[in-house]
Amino acid sequence: MTDLTWSVSWETELDDAAHGALAALLARAYTAEADRFTDGRSWVGARPELRVVARAGETPVAHAGVIRRFLRALPDGPDVLVGDVGLVAVDPDRHGSGLGRELMARVVATLVDLDIPFGFVSCGPDVEGFYRAAGWTRLPGVSVRLIDTHHRTRVDPGPAMVHAVGRPLSAWPAATVLARDGQLV
Ligand SMILES: CC(C)(COP(=O)(O)OP(=O)(O)OC[C@H]1O[C@@H](n2cnc3c(N)ncnc32)[C@H](O)[C@@H]1OP(=O)(O)O)[C@@H](O)C(=O)NCCC(=O)NCCS
Repeated sequence: MTDLTWSVSWETELDDAAHGALAALLARAYTAEADRFTDGRSWVGARPELRVVARAGETPVAHAGVIRRFLRALPDGPDVLVGDVGLVAVDPDRHGSGLGRELMARVVATLVDLDIPFGFVSCGPDVEGFYRAAGWTRLPGVSVRLIDTHHRTRVDPGPAMVHAVGRPLSAWPAATVLARDGQLV
């Protein structure tokens, strides 16, 4: 992976060509949703605030998006500031080479730089093991209320994963539902 260059870019720093290249990577990684990454559209729900990207030459081969936002910890907990992570993708030709693990390490380093208390991912059960391997912890007994990519409210029972960054994991508020009053990344 010495052939790769890494960048962290704010959304308004990326031009149309950069978004087109990221959309092509995301279409290759998310094959079931490839048609959503057309016309240079490098997002599905909420647009990231910033993106962590690895490139081989000019070509993106790994990507993660981050938005800083508050989750409401229901029923009684305080709101919690997280770096909400999504659009995590590695070029299929490089799967299984440790690139995803390095990507997530760089995401956490980025959250440290942003002075964010926690990283947060809501993912499918099929990739929980990937996040666990990268040091993320599943929140037990928690579902996530969110706005889906069709702008409908729904409850996602799937794994909600957290990573301690600026605060210890013990500071995570007790909750049975985490309300993310915005679209998933
Ligand atoms: C998930 C994804 C990012 C993993 O990238 P990767 O580069 O293949 O992952 P790595 O090679 O760095 O694997 C790191 C560890 O995670 C494990 N892992 C990888 N994918 C996994 C999966 N789907 N389920 C369980 N564990 C997984 C690996 O076995 C490895 O563990 P080990 O080091 O203990 O052996 C990649 O498969 C991908 O882009 N998938 C399509 C998009 C997607 O599903 N993104 C996540 C959406 S929430």
